[in-house]
Amino acid sequence: MPATILVGAQWGDEGKGRAVDWLASSANIVARYSGGDNAGHTVFVRNQLFKLHLLPSGILHQQTLGLLGSGMVINPLRLVEELDQLAGMGVHITPERLAISTRAHIITPAHIALDGASEKALGSQAIGTTQRGIGPAYIDKASRRGIRAGEMADVENFAEALEAALERGSRALKNMALEPLPAHAQVAAYVHAAKRLSPYLRDTVQLINEALSRGGQVLCEGAQGTLLDLDHGSYPFVTSSSATAGGALTGLGFGPKYVERVVGVAKAFSTRVGGGPLPTELSGALGDRLRGTGENFWDEFGTTTGRPRRCGWLDGVMLRYAAAVNGLTELIVTKLDILTGFDELKIAVGYKVGGQRYDYPPATLAELEHAQPVYESFSGWRDDVRRARDFGDLPRAARDYVRRIGEICATPVRAVSVGPEREQLVLL
Ligand code: IMP
Repeated sequence: MPATILVGAQWGDEGKGRAVDWLASSANIVARYSGGDNAGHTVFVRNQLFKLHLLPSGILHQQTLGLLGSGMVINPLRLVEELDQLAGMGVHITPERLAISTRAHIITPAHIALDGASEKALGSQAIGTTQRGIGPAYIDKASRRGIRAGEMADVENFAEALEAALERGSRALKNMALEPLPAHAQVAAYVHAAKRLSPYLRDTVQLINEALSRGGQVLCEGAQGTLLDLDHGSYPFVTSSSATAGGALTGLGFGPKYVERVVGVAKAFSTRVGGGPLPTELSGALGDRLRGTGENFWDEFGTTTGRPRRCGWLDGVMLRYAAAVNGLTELIVTKLDILTGFDELKIAVGYKVGGQRYDYPPATLAELEHAQPVYESFSGWRDDVRRARDFGDLPRAARDYVRRIGEICATPVRAVSVGPEREQLVLL
């Protein structure tokens, strides 16, 4: 049973890039299964900072084949840009190292324009999307009029399909009393990108199933997080794809019989970008302290959009829910070092909504918006934890905090990150 699924257990930005980097060292294939370039994974290796949006972060391990799965929506221009950026840093990704599913869908300039337009139309109720065209691309997929990546192999047909999609997008923009797209918007650039990417197109379903049946190790790299999942997140403040463990199976096209581990990644506190409920949100000095100033790459500012993230205490209710939705077999807790120096720490273990106690998050937005966290308090610690490599190296208060996280979601904590470097990981 050689597949491992790695998922974000919160609202994205949990530090999955770090966790993938660790797990990918023993993988043959690392595969993204959902979303697109709305993701932003930061990996710091050998003094170089890699910011990846479409490519799986595990591709930085030389022995892996990176795979962009059928459940993804891909902007070809951004993918070419990312490949060029990596090449500029000395990492050359040849078609032997990357497979793009012919079944994945293409994000067009119309999707991007419509994403911006629909956010504008929502006004104060805006989702706060990354404006990468993700939602509109999945709308076209569900409406059975999307363009699939496999179409890039025949550039003439691809250009025709793109022109038709742009015309449709322009009509939709006009209906919203907005400017239509410029004629032939970026068609030439898309055709150029299609030629560049064609050698990477593969039947990834066959590829992954053959690898799994031979006992190959496949790491499924989740993007976003459980609470941004279209079905299981805080709807409508979610992304438009299946970011949870189930999405790995549908997004890549293999069966549950191969899944051995489902690893959840959770930050030691909560963050969220964009709108929507965040029951443990902290305003003022505590929130600012968790966020950092933005001077360091690990501070809480979006990798994709640069937006400051909203910050708060760890939400154990959401984590318990994430453990259930994904069937987590283990948890990796990240950024424990950021909590050093607080006198007191808190974890939400339940909610109160109108006098009723909840152990799982309520499903409706109205209830969630009124949820009052029930907190447990913990002593903080002052010792620097960044050099810890064994659990026993951590101060007692930090160990108590980590243990309690595992208890709350009934999932063993396997590793804790205590800094941005590859080796700043405490294995339990
Ligand atoms: P979209 O995925 O761009 O449609 O955005 C929908 C929601 O998901 C917004 O609240 C975004 O901020 C959030 N989101 C999408 N991708 C990420 C991510 O990789 N990390 C954190 N939040 C994300």
